[in-house]
Amino acid sequence: MLTIGPIPPPHEITVPDNPNRVRLYVRREDLGHPVVSGNKWRKLRYNLAAARQMGMVLHYMDRPTYRQKHTPEVIRVLREQFGRFYLIPEGGTNRLALQGAAEMVTELDEDYDYYCLPCGTGGTSAGIICGLQGQGQVLPFSVLKGDFHTAIIKELLKNNNCSHLTNWQVITDYHFGGYARFSPALISFINDFKKNYHIPLDPIYTGKLFYGLFDLIANGFFKPGSRILAFHTGGLQGIAGFNERFGPLIET
Ligand SMILES: Cc1ncc(COP(=O)(O)O)c(C=O)c1O
Repeated sequence: MLTIGPIPPPHEITVPDNPNRVRLYVRREDLGHPVVSGNKWRKLRYNLAAARQMGMVLHYMDRPTYRQKHTPEVIRVLREQFGRFYLIPEGGTNRLALQGAAEMVTELDEDYDYYCLPCGTGGTSAGIICGLQGQGQVLPFSVLKGDFHTAIIKELLKNNNCSHLTNWQVITDYHFGGYARFSPALISFINDFKKNYHIPLDPIYTGKLFYGLFDLIANGFFKPGSRILAFHTGGLQGIAGFNERFGPLIET
């Protein structure tokens, strides 16, 4: 139940505007689990093994309380209600999540010059940085507005004895206005990408990653001839809800 894969080896895709003739490979992490796709499964796997969480029951928490979720007061109320409970932080980002995410790179058969992925809480990126132990350059593409990810990832690395690793740089230019914001250009890119490469992208995470990557490649950001690995981290379950809310923008 707690296994991964099989995920096919990274495969190369052709980028149309590629002045530095870099080589772009895609790792389909979204194929790693039939239900919980992509990095979610990586982050939850060891947490679930530790918690043996089965037969979950969903309880509603109102928004104001959720905003205070880290405070001792909210945790005390949860403890009163549920007894001893196992707290998985937002985004599933904790030590076990980083351990799971690190396997996204330790499982690879080849090295790459760059490792690119979408970044939300920073946990998956931190796990990959730890897993690489200094090899290559990691580029987390932020899907949120602001430049706070560098500090968050530094803190996660520190807590995991990885603060000596500096081979990473957060890319902050492709958030499209913030979390879950989008533009017609992003939607067209996602639809074209599916037509050209037969790879579906979601508008919140992977669409922004590949849009940004193609733009950086076109602008000569990467060393000539370098090999870039892009992680498709899943998120495809969000397309249905997105289309329901905004109209059938993303072709399925
Ligand atoms: C599909 C997808 N990709 C990337 C991320 C970003 O991962 P992280 O929050 O670990 O930075 C998330 C967030 O969970 C996600 O759902």
